[in-house]
Amino acid sequence: MKVINNINELKEILNQEKLNGKKIGLVPTMGCLHKGHASLIQKSVEDNDITVVSVFVNPIQFGPNEDYDKYPRTLEADAELCKSLNADYIFAPAPKEMYPDLEKFSDLTMVAPPYALTDMLCGKSRIGHFDGVCTVVTKLINITSPDRAYFGMKDIQQLFIVKKMVKDLNFSVDIISCPLVREESGLALSSRNKYLSDKDKISALTISKALFAIKDGYQKGITDTKLLFDTAMTVLAKDVELDYLEFVKKENFESVENIEEPTIAAIAAKVGNVRLIDNIIIGE
Ligand code: PAJ
Repeated sequence: MKVINNINELKEILNQEKLNGKKIGLVPTMGCLHKGHASLIQKSVEDNDITVVSVFVNPIQFGPNEDYDKYPRTLEADAELCKSLNADYIFAPAPKEMYPDLEKFSDLTMVAPPYALTDMLCGKSRIGHFDGVCTVVTKLINITSPDRAYFGMKDIQQLFIVKKMVKDLNFSVDIISCPLVREESGLALSSRNKYLSDKDKISALTISKALFAIKDGYQKGITDTKLLFDTAMTVLAKDVELDYLEFVKKENFESVENIEEPTIAAIAAKVGNVRLIDNIIIGE
């Protein structure tokens, strides 16, 4: 397992691998890897000859008041995990390597997903976030020319937007969706869980509990999303500040009032200063 920081060096290595007929899997991450990331890496190692894990805290997907500076950076531990999972390369570029024009934001070429998909859920509270995601994912795909790229259902809006981008812009890569991985407690694994104190964690647990209550309500026959919303609110701890809890069709992310087809209940909420997201699929 080799850590590479330089774009051209990685391109040369991967071009050679491709000439040798190897299939390449890309797992884009921002590092601080946990079992959720590990599940993507494992799948890529299973499916491909070569797995590249990118570890890059992408500055252009963070808003000015977000946690870019304090986002946990744990490259050594990440490299250990990747090695133990038989990944082949970590691509860990410096911000300047990815964005030589970073100081002058207006000089950056950006890839913008459709407004209809960003004026909702996380896109509404994180203006420009998905432009930053689509831009970096485009760059990572262009740098590595993978056969497959792996994304988790934890970030379900990101997954949908990336799939749409790849289809609309005719990228030659298969996007592979991987299931959301939870702690035994139900809490969705996230690099940001590191920020939670023990007390915060107890409150954070009510986020997944609220989603499980929705699923339970649905299984008992409630299909009206307003009622399911109210059920969830009775479970969410009082010190959890809700950003959104929305119900959207799995197929196209349109809003749902009455559940008649596979539907995503997606939530974002703050526990202290930590913004967490989670989702559950019902009606499948
Ligand atoms: P990051 O938050 O590090 O997540 C990297 C990938 O791991 C994403 O596809 C995410 O959905 C997946 N993932 C994270 N937690 C997971 C969990 N509990 N279960 C399953 N999958 C999980 O998402 C990003 O980074 C960035 O936006 C990125 C795509 C790398 C672009 O910068």
